[in-house]
Amino acid sequence: MKTKLFLLLLITGSILINSCYYDKEDLLYGNSKAPCADTTSNISYNQYVVPLLRQYCYSCHTGSFPSGGIVMGSYATDKAIGQNGKLYGSINYSPGYSPMPKGMARFTTCQVANIKKWIDAGMPNN
Ligand code: HEC
Repeated sequence: MKTKLFLLLLITGSILINSCYYDKEDLLYGNSKAPCADTTSNISYNQYVVPLLRQYCYSCHTGSFPSGGIVMGSYATDKAIGQNGKLYGSINYSPGYSPMPKGMARFTTCQVANIKKWIDAGMPNN
């Protein structure tokens, strides 16, 4: 009886794990081909980047004890993690980086693309 229950749990478990994996794959590849409607040519640090980071990142990455020692919240600090690749690596879920925002839904493909545009433009303080 115990063995049967164990097997049942094992099967249910692997089905659940597989469906999670499928969802993730969909997020990773399915979405990326969709047109990025809200991508504009000029990404403003103050009007686009800051509101997004304020909503999803600053709560953990400002103050005297910022999470992971990563300080954000001013132009200089945000530019620094843009320059060293950590901002893009973390929001893009790139291998070797901790996925951010921690404990929240992943940024959309468009949001990641827009942040990347700002980084690629040299992180202007505009
Ligand atoms: C709920 C708290 C929380 C939020 C929100 C959060 N972080 Fe983090 N972050 C952490 C913690 C804790 C660490 C250190 C441990 C780790 O790497 O998971 C960290 C680490 C990092 C690192 C270093 C990762 C590395 O691989 O070197 C970066 C960069 C970072 N966060 C950027 C961000 C950005 C950008 C956002 C918003 C999109 C964000 N974080 C939102 C808690 C948070």
